[in-house]
Amino acid sequence: MALRRSVPAEIRGGAFRYPIRQVAAHPLAEACAILGLAGTCPRPRRVPVIKLKNELWNDLAVRPGSYKKSHQPGLPTGAGNGIIAPHLRRPKVLRILVLANQKGGVGKTTTAINLGTALAAIGERVLIVDLDPQGNASTGLGIARENRKVSAYDVLTGEATLGAALKETSVPRLYIVPGTIDLVGLEPEIAARADRAFCLKAALGGFLEEQTRAPEAERFSYTLLDCPPSLNLLTINALAAAHSVVVPLQCEFFALEGLSQLLTTVEEVKNTLNPGLSIHGIVLTMFDSRNTLASQVVADVRGFMGGKVYETVIPRNVRVSEAPSHGKPVLLYDLKCSGAQAYLRLATEVIQRERQNFGPPSAAANAAGALEPLDT
Ligand SMILES: Nc1ncnc2c1ncn2[C@@H]1O[C@H](COP(=O)(O)OP(=O)(O)O)[C@@H](O)[C@H]1O
Ligand SMILES: [Mg+2]
Repeated sequence: MALRRSVPAEIRGGAFRYPIRQVAAHPLAEACAILGLAGTCPRPRRVPVIKLKNELWNDLAVRPGSYKKSHQPGLPTGAGNGIIAPHLRRPKVLRILVLANQKGGVGKTTTAINLGTALAAIGERVLIVDLDPQGNASTGLGIARENRKVSAYDVLTGEATLGAALKETSVPRLYIVPGTIDLVGLEPEIAARADRAFCLKAALGGFLEEQTRAPEAERFSYTLLDCPPSLNLLTINALAAAHSVVVPLQCEFFALEGLSQLLTTVEEVKNTLNPGLSIHGIVLTMFDSRNTLASQVVADVRGFMGGKVYETVIPRNVRVSEAPSHGKPVLLYDLKCSGAQAYLRLATEVIQRERQNFGPPSAAANAAGALEPLDT
């Protein structure tokens, strides 16, 4: 209550100065503050009051009309740049997004970690499932190898439930099912099974059932599936279980190469295993403004994929690449760096698209055995 009283005085009138000293102790609280601050609010009157969900800011409501209306130079205009206050309510269903691209090193894991952190920072309860035998998402979130006794492998083979495998991370509301090298052996092990493409879906189905019995505060709103760099059975399991695909695409010469193969695979999965599957969006990663080719790549990808490409472009930023070696998302490692800021904007865009384009799973998808909505 004290916070609520103190803030309007700080935000009233032109420039919006957040009382950072009150939140500096908690990096995620600061993340929330920046989420409300950065960029432009294109249609302030139409945007409802944003309620920042954070332990420290639970009672703090900020009016978007008081956002600073400066455009950030060098960044694209539009929804991605403008941090529009989304309805920061939980989705009615557990949304399962898969980070997929058969190319390695394009930013799948980095996006899973930092998009997950950003979603958690704005109040969502997020689970990352690390499906890569390299276990980079687990390492990047500070889960030591000796603490991966129960892993995604155990979940996919049915030896453990997803609920039993998930681990807390240092980020409040962000959990992970760790990945281990055992996943390399999964494919030959399940290849002969008729349900080999649905192991993850079955595990997630069981998890959803558990979730319906959990108190509301303990229910997850997003699951991010971090895929290995190939279109193998692990990736197919992820595509068969997900609602939507987020494709990280590196801003390099060969960006479009392989994208059509991935899109074809998504289409095949949609036609056979998962009718409800859709492309959520394409996120351009590792953009280097000094490289003239990078801008051309952005233009080409936007020309090819149109509105499917998120407005937010993730810049190449050394802090992003340093963060995993500290076992931290970049949002905690260096919240103010351009990479962290971009991931906050991406999270806002993801939520906006969720609201605009993706309702609860369609009746057809449910009939085909897709995951049941949570009753929240
Ligand atoms: N925006 C970025 N700026 C700088 N380095 C990045 C950025 N995104 C990812 N990286 C680095 O690029 C490498 C590959 O990223 P990663 O997310 O592991 O790709 P993938 O999971 O697709 O294989 C990692 O070393 C990561 O730290
Ligand atoms: Mg990876």
